[in-house]
Amino acid sequence: MAHMKPLAESVLEFRTPRLLVRRWRDSDLDALLAVYGDADAMRWVGDGRPITRDECQQWLAVTRANYGKRGYGMFAVEKQVQPGVIGFCGIVHPGGQVEPEVKYAFLRSVWGRGIATETVSGLIAYATRRHRLSFLVASTAPENLASHRVLLKSGMRRGSVRANSDGTRTQWFEWREGETTDPQPAT
Ligand SMILES: CC(C)(COP(=O)(O)OP(=O)(O)OC[C@H]1O[C@@H](n2cnc3c(N)ncnc32)[C@H](O)[C@@H]1OP(=O)(O)O)[C@@H](O)C(=O)NCCC(=O)NCCS
Repeated sequence: MAHMKPLAESVLEFRTPRLLVRRWRDSDLDALLAVYGDADAMRWVGDGRPITRDECQQWLAVTRANYGKRGYGMFAVEKQVQPGVIGFCGIVHPGGQVEPEVKYAFLRSVWGRGIATETVSGLIAYATRRHRLSFLVASTAPENLASHRVLLKSGMRRGSVRANSDGTRTQWFEWREGETTDPQPAT
């Protein structure tokens, strides 16, 4: 990887009242490990395994390629008043999936302050405005009730629950431009 062009120093994608959301830098590797290497926090994310340093390196390279290919990918989230990564969000197409999918995860130390909701709301507005995306999905573990709340509060609609080939299930959420969501229960 050493020969590859480093990720740009600081490309701001959007702001929310408290946060700024920017492209990844190669120096975000430790922050990535702090968030996605937290075994307990990751129990309902992806395959439930915490990420390794090698996987973080690969993810940085994949994200760099996504910026070039689509103009978006995963981003870092910082507080406007205090530099330092507190979490990550982004729009991705896992395994070449056609539908753009919203992703997010934050350091445990900032949970419970509306940070994820503010981020995802901003991300949806950014996706529409900047990239003309009119349909977004999110996939969650059926048990990840905090994440369901975040998506509902951000204006997404609860979709179907689908069985996966490994025996797990996924609760899907959807957002379609112009569609207003009714207040929905959290579970
Ligand atoms: C899920 C996660 C993103 C939430 O971040 P956050 O900044 O704490 O979220 P917010 O403060 O914006 O909102 C959380 C909501 O969930 C609710 N909540 C928290 N724990 C809950 C639980 N166990 N059961 C039900 N609701 C819960 C909160 O009360 C809040 O809702 P409210 O505002 O109506 O009270 C964060 O915990 C995280 O990063 N987890 C690990 C990664 C992850 O799961 N990512 C999502 C993958 S789909």
